[in-house]
Amino acid sequence: METKILGRTRGRFATAAAYIKAGEVVAFHTETVYGLGANAFDDEAVLKVFALKGRPADNPLIVHVHRDYDITQLIDGEPHYAAALRAAFLPGPLTMVYPSTGKVSKYVSCGLNTLAIRVPSSPVAQAFLRASDLPVAAPSANLSKHVSPVTAQHVYDDFQGKIPLILDGGACTGGIESTVLDCTGKVPQILREGLVTREMISAVAGDCGVYKRQTGEKPKSPGMAYKHYAPRCPTALANSAEEALRIYRNEEMGCGKPLILCESALIPALEGAEVLDLGATGEEMARRLYALLRRAEDSATLLIGIEPKARGGVMAGVCNRFKKAFGEQT
Ligand code: TXA
Ligand code: MG
Repeated sequence: METKILGRTRGRFATAAAYIKAGEVVAFHTETVYGLGANAFDDEAVLKVFALKGRPADNPLIVHVHRDYDITQLIDGEPHYAAALRAAFLPGPLTMVYPSTGKVSKYVSCGLNTLAIRVPSSPVAQAFLRASDLPVAAPSANLSKHVSPVTAQHVYDDFQGKIPLILDGGACTGGIESTVLDCTGKVPQILREGLVTREMISAVAGDCGVYKRQTGEKPKSPGMAYKHYAPRCPTALANSAEEALRIYRNEEMGCGKPLILCESALIPALEGAEVLDLGATGEEMARRLYALLRRAEDSATLLIGIEPKARGGVMAGVCNRFKKAFGEQT
């Protein structure tokens, strides 16, 4: 199968919607990362997404809808705070987990009685979802465990010849996946941190918890238990510029080609080393992280990461992805 990357071309949303209605899988731009979408009502199409990614069968998918889609048919009620959060943050990088009515394919939620819903703000995603007028189940458009895609080319690199179409919307401005928020309890609880932060949610909902799995407990959001976001080159995590330089020199002595990934502030302390600049603010680091990980895997024999020091806001999500990329279970 030929995989077409469609930028601004006439009729591309109608073409993508026709594929979705015919049970095919198409990739599309969102403001966070690219998604790999299928009709959420269609068992076969949803199973195709799992097969294409090599995704474990117990890791549920998020359903994407356009801003005017009537979600009351999909969810079994919502708490007051959830309506306030929708008004404040949607469309945008916030996924809300609700009790499900069970109308979509049972494969979407992998046996859970909840459904994760997201209304992306990307104009490309909105136009595509409106043309489809269906809930579109979509994980990030990367092979399972690989780094999430933030350009159409990244999607192409993982799925060339396997899907008919990628709706190109340019580089994703958010850069890390949406915040996943459990809205089934009295207080909202973050299952996956992202660009809509705990502080932002608390300001609207009055309170917001962050789910931490107890050892031995089955995770509430199964995806969080898996190794994720890993570049395909060896990695090492350093605590300081000095430590990073030691590892760097060692790798060079063995004729390797090391790279260091760190925040802008540390670059002056790394003279003589080849460095990938993660940026200075949380938003910048979120936007650059995945593209830099993908770039590193194409050229480095060892990628040395120094975890950014800043905390608060978007940094919770950035550090979570950063540590996972470097092999730490969080
Ligand atoms: O930004 C995003 O969310 C991107 C774009 C494409 O929208 N999508 C994305 O999907 O990151 P994925 O499949 O890579 O991650 C979905 C996460 C997983 O951690 C999964 O376990 C969790 O959402 N999830 C999905 N449905 C859930 C549910 N019913 N209850 C709890 N967690 C759920
Ligand atoms: Mg993913």
